[in-house]
Amino acid sequence: MSNFNVFKDFIKSLRFRLIILFILMGVIPGMVLWAGVLNSYEQRAVSIKTSEILGQAKILVNQIVSNDYLNNTDSVIISAELQQLSNIYDGKIMLIDSGFRVVKDTYDIDTGKIIISKEVIQSYKGTDITKYDPESRYIEIVTPLLKTNVATGEQAPIGVMMISVSTDSINLNMEYLGTNIFVIQMICGMLVIILAVWLSIHLTKPLKKMSLSIDEIETGYGTGKLIIHDYTETLEICEKFNSLLGRMKVLDESRQEFVSNVSHELKTPLTSMKVLADSINSMGDAPVELYKEFMADIGQEIDRETKIINDLLSLVKMDKSAADLNIVSLNINELLEQILKRLKPIAEKQQVELVFESFRPVIADVDEVKITLAFSNLIENAIKYNNPEGWVRVSLNADHQYMYLKVEDNGMGIPEADMDHIFERFYRVDKSHSREIGGTGLGLAITRSAILMHKGAVKVFSTEGEGTIFNVRIPLKYIV
Ligand SMILES: Nc1ncnc2c1ncn2[C@@H]1O[C@H](COP(=O)(O)OP(=O)(O)OP(=O)(O)O)[C@@H](O)[C@H]1O
Ligand SMILES: [Mg+2]
Repeated sequence: MSNFNVFKDFIKSLRFRLIILFILMGVIPGMVLWAGVLNSYEQRAVSIKTSEILGQAKILVNQIVSNDYLNNTDSVIISAELQQLSNIYDGKIMLIDSGFRVVKDTYDIDTGKIIISKEVIQSYKGTDITKYDPESRYIEIVTPLLKTNVATGEQAPIGVMMISVSTDSINLNMEYLGTNIFVIQMICGMLVIILAVWLSIHLTKPLKKMSLSIDEIETGYGTGKLIIHDYTETLEICEKFNSLLGRMKVLDESRQEFVSNVSHELKTPLTSMKVLADSINSMGDAPVELYKEFMADIGQEIDRETKIINDLLSLVKMDKSAADLNIVSLNINELLEQILKRLKPIAEKQQVELVFESFRPVIADVDEVKITLAFSNLIENAIKYNNPEGWVRVSLNADHQYMYLKVEDNGMGIPEADMDHIFERFYRVDKSHSREIGGTGLGLAITRSAILMHKGAVKVFSTEGEGTIFNVRIPLKYIV
């Protein structure tokens, strides 16, 4: 196998899929956790910093308003406090008056400039505005400077304090955290991969074992039975495999037996002919009568050989699928009368009385050739395996679903021990006795196949020395 094919097989294997599955199961939750932890740290750190600064700013706002710092920025204390806050949080603080003019900028860049931003306008209406911009990495806090009217007690904005602080420290922490998590993630990932490979090898081991055992059985080194009881599933597969193997062995044995039977049966008439021919040849000048007699015997053997071959051909045809059936609606009474008419001379020769009894006209969907073969053989057997002065009774009946054929005789009967085998190919009761009656033992095998092809059933009852009954049941309408 080429390297590419080995790789392709590995990709397709259960082992590879399990490895991928375990890795995904191990790594995906880690990644989600990683993103989740970093994200929630960022939000939490930003919100803590914002509220901390806002708290400090509120204290300053009160001092600014009460000292009227907006109009007079000379207060050294407030200026120093603003500067301190600006230094602590590494941010710029601006005080903007009601004319949106920057009165104070701790960075001294924008003093005197006009700032009309959305946040400033919103905050001027009396609310605290906070904004976090992760892209530019800064937090902006805008809080209103509210002055209380002594007479009415109402608060009115006189300006806003705007603080912009950098979030570099938060981002730095996040980077540090991210690197740490990444390292942990890598270590966990390696462990997960090792575990995944180990687990998948361990889990698929029984299947490998199974395939090896099957190889051993195939090459003949195994015990001939597959037993892998690691999982319930493997045990189930083993049981099914063993039963399949058993059936295959039985089939193989029956095939071998069939072949040897066929060869034997085909050889017998040939041997007889050879003996007859040799003996007539060895007699220098035999009389013509003897030649004629021997030739008649040879002719009989040829007939026998032809019958065996014809029977075998019929059997082979029966083994084919049911699609080969040529189903027609047939008058069974007429069919049986024809068969009986054909068999009458043989019955008369054997001095056997042949009676046909029909309870009703029966029309059924059958394959005429095959069903004729089946019925003929049953009736012929009843005549053949009978005694002089014996009788054969054929009766036909039907209900709305099935037709019933009964072939009954008071002949020699079938011994109990042979009953299970008479439908087997080439099986004949008492070979020596059967030989003089003549037959190949294929008749009942053909009969049974034909009946089964019509989804019917055949049963036999027999008492040795008393007689035999064959009961056949076939559906009137052919079931596909
Ligand atoms: N009605 C019967 N009475 C007694 N024995 C029977 C009867 N029918 C069948 N048998 C026995 O069953 C055997 C098998 O029958 P089957 O019809 O298959 O073969 P056969 O009659 O010997 O040969 P073939 O039918 O192929 O010419 C027969 O050899 C016979 O011993
Ligand atoms: Mg027969």
